[in-house]
Amino acid sequence: MFESLEKLPDDPILGLAAAARQDINPKKIDMSMGVYLNEHGLCPVFEAVNHAQRLLVEQETSKVYMQATGDENFTTHIPKLVFGDSSSALNDGRIASIQTPGGCGALRLGAEIINIARSGSRVFLSDPSWPVHIPLMRSAGLNLVSYRYYQPGSHSVNFEAMVEDVSVAKAGDVVLLHGCCHNPCGADLSEEQWNVIADMADRQGFLPYIDIAYQGMGDGLEQDASGLRILAERVPEMIVASSCSKNMGLYRERTGATLVLCANRERVEAVISQAKTAARGIYSMPPAHGGILAGMLLSDNHLNRIWREELQSVCERINQVRTRLVNALATATDRDFGFIAREKGMFSFLGLEPEHAVRLRDEFSIYMTESSRINVAAVNDTNLDYLAESIAKVIC
Ligand code: LMR
Repeated sequence: MFESLEKLPDDPILGLAAAARQDINPKKIDMSMGVYLNEHGLCPVFEAVNHAQRLLVEQETSKVYMQATGDENFTTHIPKLVFGDSSSALNDGRIASIQTPGGCGALRLGAEIINIARSGSRVFLSDPSWPVHIPLMRSAGLNLVSYRYYQPGSHSVNFEAMVEDVSVAKAGDVVLLHGCCHNPCGADLSEEQWNVIADMADRQGFLPYIDIAYQGMGDGLEQDASGLRILAERVPEMIVASSCSKNMGLYRERTGATLVLCANRERVEAVISQAKTAARGIYSMPPAHGGILAGMLLSDNHLNRIWREELQSVCERINQVRTRLVNALATATDRDFGFIAREKGMFSFLGLEPEHAVRLRDEFSIYMTESSRINVAAVNDTNLDYLAESIAKVIC
């Protein structure tokens, strides 16, 4: 059976992170993966999550299967976090909410629902995008088309090109958008640009599909969802893939949600029934632990307040690190890296050549993808100068 199987290369992100773990150089900087690291280089458990876990251990009486839609407390509250308390779709009961195994599970389940509704639909994907969007959409049977998004020369969104490419999307097509903190480039749409996309969706009839895996890591929970909320007030239908990996630090607990905004509340039941059947054919039901914890953080006033404060300080630290990095690179090099401070979230493209990224890894134990995407949160006071000086050495 398996003689025909070839060994595949490692995943470009996970493989790099694994190589970084093996590296024993005390100066190593692992900027490979989108995982929040604090000033000490650790990916901490949120205090609010620690509290919730203690309560859960005391209260839990069974490990019986979850229902296929997940933890009800979580699925009730997560749409409020994403769409906002005053969302008309939410108040009209037009949002189907299904807990999934992480943000990937949310994206895949959303893709399954689209494919059931309209088999082989085209999904317009930003160039560049998170590489895993491709298999997640394709494995559900969807087809991919790309739209231009990022201009390396100006380190910003090429909105004119984006609009030109998305202008051919029509009813039955899907346009996948990064809700905030674009992965991999960190360059986000402005409010004005979101309004243009909402006009286009409204006029052309395509389905917006928003990946909001990094809500809360850019400008804060509300601000980061503002583009998505503009769309939600304007279009009859859309899908959102939400994740608690980053903003609650629940990475390994695989906690996310597929949220389907329906044209009317009657559709919600149909969508949920299809989602349950699709989930049954893949993983049956989501894992319990993370969903229950996230539900507690969203519904308990005390835990919610602690979590929001912690997340706000994570967000502030990322933005401070961006400024510190710009300053250190200005001192060490004669290139302008000022764009890093204008971007949002965990990522930035440094704009280095692939061979520079390879040299940084091989000679300096600094790990970033060959596209020179870095996880900004990996920078701290201890490694900042080493990073800036090493970059200066490879680009000079
Ligand atoms: C990333 O882009 O590094 C993260 O989303 C982690 C992953 O699974 O790729």
